[in-house]
Formats: sequence, structure tokens, C-alpha cells
Amino acid sequence: MAQPAALPAPTGAQPDLLDEIDALRRQRNAVILAHYYQEPEIQDLADRIGDSLELAKAARDTQADVILFCGVHFMAEGAKILNPDRIVLIPDMNAGCSLADAAPAARVARWKAEHPGSVLVSYINCSAGVKAVSDIICTSSNSVRVIESIPADKQILFCPDRNLGAWLQKQTGRELISWQGTCIVHETFSEQKLVKLKVRHPGAKVIAHPECEPALLRYADFVGSTSQLLRYATTTPDADTFIVGTEPGILHQMQKAAPDRTFLPLPGMDETCACNECPHMKRNTLEKIRDALRDLQPRIEMPEELRLAALAPLQRMMALG
Ligand code: 13P
Ligand code: SF4
Repeated sequence: MAQPAALPAPTGAQPDLLDEIDALRRQRNAVILAHYYQEPEIQDLADRIGDSLELAKAARDTQADVILFCGVHFMAEGAKILNPDRIVLIPDMNAGCSLADAAPAARVARWKAEHPGSVLVSYINCSAGVKAVSDIICTSSNSVRVIESIPADKQILFCPDRNLGAWLQKQTGRELISWQGTCIVHETFSEQKLVKLKVRHPGAKVIAHPECEPALLRYADFVGSTSQLLRYATTTPDADTFIVGTEPGILHQMQKAAPDRTFLPLPGMDETCACNECPHMKRNTLEKIRDALRDLQPRIEMPEELRLAALAPLQRMMALG
């Protein structure tokens, strides 16, 4: 595909930022994908919002020339792995993920070599290098199905989220050897504050992401990916108040879809900080989105050999449906 030339920076009176983004999106034939943990104004301007799996599929299937991924690095990298012929941009290259950071590819490769004959299942929240040494990838929405697809006589290694690993072990009855990574956001939720909220709202249902600690998941009436939490909280007839155990960015879509329901974000242990917000996701801003579309930077690139190695386990996951 021909590489489009850089566009000049806008001159004269500063037009409204949202109009600028819209104009650039059209000029670039770009699609803007956003995760639920983005700021509400970013969710509202996106062409598609979703959980990791839905956004990966949207990236794979788009006909746009440019994909601007408003999420974190592993998500944009996944889009590039699935769609090498398109330009993939991320508003802030430093938008990382504590889970991806917890699993350096060389160490994961050594770990796998120490367990010959085992199957390495990696959560999509990992680098392309880790994907490349994995047998199959999963997301929070299909992880049970992925584990159940592995022959019963195979030892399973699970990387990098130990909380998702523990939850999967419970759901599937399979023994997993887990890497010891955690999400800095989901591990901060306070059990004590959850109990207080439950006392104050006795009819509320607790919903939680499987990245939360097992002690917290014990209280959950429903556990699922961000999209699954959104669907449950806005459609179940069983309650109209929900205590939400995931990053509070998701509340924007919950309130939009069900304005008459009450959604209570679970606070972190330390109320003096916004520790229940993902600092990586929140690096993306409207200004950075405008700049990325204008400059076609920061751009995700990777060696083709690495991309092909990382693609195989992603495709195995997607073939499961
Ligand atoms: P989902 O795939 O459930 O959206 O999760 C992504 C994530 O990073 C959760 O912290
Ligand atoms: Fe990573 Fe946690 Fe942020 Fe999700 S919320 S992107 S797992 S640091």
C-alpha cells in the first residue's frame, strides 16, 4: 500500500479539536478503535469500542488505511500483528500495561523450555515477543473456552496474570502453572470497601473482571470481560444497582445504555489516589489523537519474523470462534 504523505499542521484560528479529529479521520481514511477504559470523550468519538477481543477482530476486519488504537501498547501491537498492511497508530507509545511488563519474552521462553511437552496459554495482555513463544492466546472473554480446548493430558502454563489463572483453574478444574504477574489496577480494589458498599446497597449485584484478586472475586455475582460486564449490568433483570469491580472508564457506557440503573465504582485501598484508574490507558488524550492522525506517528512496527510467530497463536485463538 502507498504510504500517505505527512499533512501540514493546521494554521490560523485553532478549530475545535473534535472537528479537527473528524476532518483528519476522513482525510486519512482512518478508523478509531477505543477500549472502555479510555476517557468518555475518546469513547464517544471512536468508530468502535469494545473489549480486547472485539477490538482485535475490528482491527483484523477493517478496510481503513489507518488504524488509530486508543488503548494500550499490547492492543495496538495485536492490531498490527493481525493487519500488517495498514498503518497502526497509538496516541501515546508509553501507554503500557503492568501485566505485559511483568513477563519479559526471554524469561517466558526459558520458563516454557523448563516444562517440555506443556502448552503455553498467554493472556492477550502480553508483548509480541511473548505471543511469539506461546501456543495459544486468550482474552478475558474466551479464556475458559481456550483452556477447555487443550487436551486433558497436557500440562498448561498460563502467563502472565496469576489472578486470571487462579480464576480459570476454578472455572475449568484444570491445573495451571501460572506466571506471577498482576494488573496494578485490579489488584488495588479493597475487599473492605466492597463489603461496606454491599452493606449500604444490599440489593446490589457485584460484578468483577477476572484480573481481580481471588479474595475479591469470591463476592462477585458475575465475572467477565469488560464487554460481558457491560452487557450483564445493563440487561439483567435481577438488579438495578451494581458494584463494579473493574476500571471505572466502563461506567460511561453503562450509564449511557441504562441511565435508570446505578453503577458504583469500586474504590482502591487508598482513597487519596485514583488508583482504580489505569494510568496507561489514561495517557491518551484528544490532543494526542489529533497529532497522531496528522503526523501518522507514533506508529507500531515490528520485524516480519516476529509478527508471523506472534500471529500463529492469535489465529489459533480466533479459530475457536
Ligand atoms: P478486556 O479484554 O476485558 O476489555 O480487558 C482488557 C484489560 O486490559 C483489562 O484490564
Ligand atoms: Fe493493563 Fe491493568 Fe491497565 Fe488493563 S487495567 S491495561 S491489565 S494495567
